[in-house]
Amino acid sequence: MVEALRRPGVVGGEFLFPRIEQALREVPRHLFIPEADLEQAYDPFSPVMTKRDEEQGFVSSVSAPQIQAMMLGQAELRPGQRVLEVGSGGYNAALIAEVVGPDGEVTTVDIDPDITARARRLLDANGHERVRVVTADAAHGVEEDAPYDAIIVTAGAWDIPPAWVEQLVEGGRLVVPFRVHGLTRSIGFVEHDGVLRSTSSLICGFLPMQGADSHAETLFRLGGTEEVVLRFEEGAPEDPHLLDDVVRTPRVDRWTGVTVALREPIDTLQSYLATTLPGFCVMTVDPALDTGSVTPNNPRFSMAAVEGGDFAYLVTRRVPGAASVEYGVHAFGPTAMEFAERVGLLVREWDRDQRGGPGPEIRVYPISVPVDRSSEDRVVTKRHTHVTFSWPTS
Ligand SMILES: C[S@@+](CC[C@H](N)C(=O)[O-])C[C@H]1O[C@@H](n2cnc3c(N)ncnc32)[C@H](O)[C@@H]1O
Repeated sequence: MVEALRRPGVVGGEFLFPRIEQALREVPRHLFIPEADLEQAYDPFSPVMTKRDEEQGFVSSVSAPQIQAMMLGQAELRPGQRVLEVGSGGYNAALIAEVVGPDGEVTTVDIDPDITARARRLLDANGHERVRVVTADAAHGVEEDAPYDAIIVTAGAWDIPPAWVEQLVEGGRLVVPFRVHGLTRSIGFVEHDGVLRSTSSLICGFLPMQGADSHAETLFRLGGTEEVVLRFEEGAPEDPHLLDDVVRTPRVDRWTGVTVALREPIDTLQSYLATTLPGFCVMTVDPALDTGSVTPNNPRFSMAAVEGGDFAYLVTRRVPGAASVEYGVHAFGPTAMEFAERVGLLVREWDRDQRGGPGPEIRVYPISVPVDRSSEDRVVTKRHTHVTFSWPTS
């Protein structure tokens, strides 16, 4: 498992520090996942689902080793630190305990008593009695054990509850799978004076946060179709009726000339469009209802956008004779041609200015602090926070 995580190209591999690698080698993962066979337990890239709920489907899992190692590295954990883990599987808390050592302290909190009972049992059975296990909604943090040098959140968060910032020491680290515009990134933040500033951002997927700070995305079925669903994370189209029957208008195709290798990460392209293209959303197509009104490459995830009565989504086509694809746009609506041009221009801007770069610096300000909207930064306002995205300028 560890050897696989060390291979070149593994997401977050740069964060596999020696102390984290040592913890991965020392804590027997299979003993914390009795529901899995050895192969599943040590699969480096797959989570193991541990609880299913009739209504919501899967509600708990033990995350994939690659994700766990990456997040511990993003938190820059060191011996002697005090750490809060949000979301309890048992194994990850044991890894953290191993890294912070006998002088450190670990608290893990989960909203679900079945999950904390399981974590308590497994931690006790495997020599980690010192880890504190708390059943509570982590939207309020765990005040009794604060302040923390690091908080590692292992459920997808749409916002940053004030308690997480308040319960960090000055200069403390928050690592959180943060959801903006339907995209989730594991962001490593450092806190100063109540403001969080990102130091790393890596692609990931997580079960969503439940409880007081859960957030439902807006699902919008595209007019005139049964199968096309648009997912808006930060507000839906103002006048959805403008889009009625939009897919019956003639489709405009624009190819951008931007080609990417098949294995090249495009997470910054997704984030660039999400933060610069108003009306950005994620499109899914239900294969059971598919009538061919749209033809995405991946029915489960396509970047898309709406503006007024126009609708567009991104597509790719293979470059003949090369292991690469070219990005293009399919657009519909009264000004489809202009809309396709605008979307294509942003893809070319990403290619010219941001491709291969570090992505935006993300800052999270308390909602009470006014943000400078005249700057180049993109601002997304959530329930508790303003989040700014500052793309590097060359
Ligand atoms: C991916 S699992 C945790 C994985 C775990 N850290 C591990 O060892 O890999 C996500 C967990 O977050 C918990 N959770 C969701 N919302 C929560 C909340 N508001 N407060 C505390 N726990 C929450 C769920 O019950 C679930 O058990």
